[in-house]
Amino acid sequence: MALTLAVRDGDAAEIDTPLLGVLLQAGSELPSDLQALDEAVGGALTRALKRGDFKGSRDESLHLDGGSSKAGRVLLIGIGTPTEPTASYRRGASLLARQAHRLGTGAVAVVAPDAAADLIESIVVGLNLGCWEYIDLKTPPPEAERKKPLTKATVVADGRDAKDAVARGEAIAAGYEVARRLAQMPGNLCTPDLLAKTATDIGRRHKLKVTVLGRREMERQKMGSFLCVAQGTPEDPKLVTMEYRKGKRGDAPIVLVGKGLCFDTGGISIKPADRMEYMKFDMCGAAGVIGAMETIARLKLKVNVVGMFGATTNMPSGTAVKPGDVVISHLGKSIEIINTDAEGRLVLADLLSYARRFKPAAVIDAATLTGACVIALGHVATGVLGTDQDLVDEVIGAARRAAEPGWQLPLWDEYKELIKSDVADMKNSGGRAGGTISAAMFLKEFAEEYPWVHLDIAGTAYSEADLVAMPRGPTGVPTGTFVEFVRGRAG
Ligand code: BES
Ligand code: MN
Ligand code: ZN
Repeated sequence: MALTLAVRDGDAAEIDTPLLGVLLQAGSELPSDLQALDEAVGGALTRALKRGDFKGSRDESLHLDGGSSKAGRVLLIGIGTPTEPTASYRRGASLLARQAHRLGTGAVAVVAPDAAADLIESIVVGLNLGCWEYIDLKTPPPEAERKKPLTKATVVADGRDAKDAVARGEAIAAGYEVARRLAQMPGNLCTPDLLAKTATDIGRRHKLKVTVLGRREMERQKMGSFLCVAQGTPEDPKLVTMEYRKGKRGDAPIVLVGKGLCFDTGGISIKPADRMEYMKFDMCGAAGVIGAMETIARLKLKVNVVGMFGATTNMPSGTAVKPGDVVISHLGKSIEIINTDAEGRLVLADLLSYARRFKPAAVIDAATLTGACVIALGHVATGVLGTDQDLVDEVIGAARRAAEPGWQLPLWDEYKELIKSDVADMKNSGGRAGGTISAAMFLKEFAEEYPWVHLDIAGTAYSEADLVAMPRGPTGVPTGTFVEFVRGRAG
């Protein structure tokens, strides 16, 4: 259910709402904007702050009755000491939306007296993400047990700027929603064909040029690396490009690349059964590209961007590629397949070499590429590796602004040893030690002719635990990182 946003100015105590959320930083005294509200609740705000019942720490919340204010309930939410305000306010707003959703209030209002005006954007993103859910495949509960979904939110603020910030927040949330939805859909529904159709729909709505290559076209392009992954499935693999050109004519585009494995069984090097179901998420890089293109188009950013992804399903079968097989990539380099479960890099190799045709200013790829990255960085940071340190720094900055932190790992020549093959130019697996790095070293062999950064989102694209501000499930990473990077470059 979509959330309808409104902006209203005026005093917080005068907002007619079933639930008024008040986002407060740590250690705030009662802001003057909340004086009337405090009086309406009989001084309960001041007392809560004085007694330390509410300190404003991150994720802290305190419920009050609305008293004689126009709010049914008041919910104080702690923002903590925001070193990264975007992330902090997004989190606080998500928490508020989740509470509203849980209580079934249907509507919510939010006031953030100590936030700068541009943080309204983050608040709107947070509200939307907080009430996001994927319920299409569940039978709706009987009417009597149904809770009102959160469908209305009011931001208490004034001015034209606030309206613009709300619109930007909604554009960003829309991209995240596309990405999360695709990520949560099971592999029998989220097929390469569906990913291609979703991209085509977005293209039609925003007048982007979308092209879709299938198996035949990729054979003509001699994409032996991508195609060997797809040779075990009857589904037609798809290579999709989405061109958004609102920058200067002739300006080199930013190219965003995503791994789109609609399911990864491992192929002949099959994965263990336990937790294999999570591998429906192996298309989160592609989902991030699609989501980011939706947002970029809504924001009408003045920049040239090409979104690109490769979609297929990694299956064992009589026709599947086998360990020991050697394939020739689009770039012409030969690859010995050591492990058919190292399939993402095989898809990306041909995408990265195909990307050269756009003469990119920069290429950023995102992929749920290695279990090793989950071991190295857990579920907190995305792995960042690249050939151009300035670009790496720029991407890490964008990731921070998007509240999707990234951490760099080295790409030194010493690691090239790991992917040396006896029979081909390289092998597709470098073993367990330094697994994230050897995967990126492999990709580097195909990222020629442009500055390039790789994001390993294996640990960050999906949360297996219910986090305070987010339910278990897809996070939407790397949508925000892509958007912030592009926004940072837009004129
Ligand atoms: N999609 C997986 C990466 C993955 C594994 C993400 C576990 C999240 C959790 C990828 O295709 C893969 O299977 N990688 C292998 C590479 C290995 C065979 C060199 C891995 O990480 O085990
Ligand atoms: Mn795999
Ligand atoms: Zn995979």
